[in-house]
Amino acid sequence: MQMTAQQLRLPLTVEPVVRRQPDMTYRAKLENLLSDDLDFHGTNSAYASHNFHSFPAKFPPQLPRKFIEWLTDPGDLVLDPMVGSGTTVLEAFLLGRRGLGVDIDPLALRLCKAKVTPTALEEVAETGHRVLRDAEVALQRNVASLMDSLDARFDDATRKFVDYWFLPETQLELIALIREIEKVQNPITRGFLELAFSAIIITKSGGVSRARDLAHTRPHRVSDKVPRSAIAQYRHRLKKNIQSLTELAYGTGGVALLKGNAQSLALQDNTVDLIVTSPPYASNAIDYMRAHKFSLVWFGHPVKELSKLRREYIGGEALTDFHLLEVPNYSTQVITRIARYDERKARVLHRYYSEMTRSLSEMYRVLKPGKAAIVVVGTSTMRGLDTETQICLGEIGESLGFDLVDIAVRKLDRDKRMMPARRSARPNSQIEERMHEEYVIGLYKPDS
Ligand SMILES: C[S@@+](CC[C@H](N)C(=O)[O-])C[C@H]1O[C@@H](n2cnc3c(N)ncnc32)[C@H](O)[C@@H]1O
Repeated sequence: MQMTAQQLRLPLTVEPVVRRQPDMTYRAKLENLLSDDLDFHGTNSAYASHNFHSFPAKFPPQLPRKFIEWLTDPGDLVLDPMVGSGTTVLEAFLLGRRGLGVDIDPLALRLCKAKVTPTALEEVAETGHRVLRDAEVALQRNVASLMDSLDARFDDATRKFVDYWFLPETQLELIALIREIEKVQNPITRGFLELAFSAIIITKSGGVSRARDLAHTRPHRVSDKVPRSAIAQYRHRLKKNIQSLTELAYGTGGVALLKGNAQSLALQDNTVDLIVTSPPYASNAIDYMRAHKFSLVWFGHPVKELSKLRREYIGGEALTDFHLLEVPNYSTQVITRIARYDERKARVLHRYYSEMTRSLSEMYRVLKPGKAAIVVVGTSTMRGLDTETQICLGEIGESLGFDLVDIAVRKLDRDKRMMPARRSARPNSQIEERMHEEYVIGLYKPDS
């Protein structure tokens, strides 16, 4: 039996609006869901731990929730191979399913873990209070020791990065906080406190760093930005996250997280009941690593290691040592059209469609026959031309054996989402219109 939102004690706004039709076939049910309203404007997305930390282009929780609720039963395995901030697996957890999240990004995995782990409210509140108090004491009485810690913490390249992006006074506050957080013994409590720490750096407006906007491909340093006090921001964020913590207690599922590449999943064939995922945009429209570096350096990751890892992200622009695959007709035409204006950009797009071919092929392999993969994508522009990502991914999915059930359109609520900067699209043009949309591709693995 599937559980209702009321049984889960979640806000009623997240209840599905489609009426259940028990005699419908699975495929028809999927078709029905795709034709339903998938915009979810005006609904509350901030329940449970969904808003603990911002994340570029995360989808509203109602989106995976709808498909999980209608296409799986409690105990089923729900996979997101590019799990990001964990929206899909958190919903799976709240609905009593088993969620499995894979991502290549160390920050995504960190924050996912904290978001799906029920945490003792009192302990977190008490420990958080102690961390803040001791950090403030160190700032008042022990600045020399904090400066020593800054010197010891980073290698030269990382220190240069930190000095460029964080004011000296912010660095002191951040090191005072992270030093106290690292002393916390309980790993669950520590994870929760680390997440709040990262959340004050990674925000749409660059948080306590000097960056203007982290979702843009190249964050810009603003010379006149005076970041707010990191201590004050941390206190505020902690309070907010603790307030939302209670709702997590109602989750009955389980979640496993794997560091890995969506192009080669460490999972057995035919084992997954449902996939709900949103891959990165083509052409590095959101550069996750460039943004996440701002937080990861404080958790001990040197910038050089992070730059190396960045090459493995889907949608990157590097072309050396990269094996391009043959893609189907329409996708080839889109690439060829762009090549007339810019050969390099066309190869970057070809790289993206090759990476997505590998990822979709893995999704097909691990999915049980008779089950679905829901792939949520936005399109991009290159030299003013639409990459038609949704059509190409649908075509690639079909070439791998999936039935393309439908491609639904959803209107984005741009006020709510950290989205890529719009590049080279004329205002009011058709392409500009499409930048305000996202596509929900329904792929069905036939029962054969
Ligand atoms: C659009 S985000 C996912 C957002 C997610 N749906 C959410 O609600 O938070 C895309 C994710 O793909 C991840 N990613 C990029 N390349 C990857 C790869 N090769 N393997 C696995 N994950 C990858 C990024 O790190 C990022 O977390």
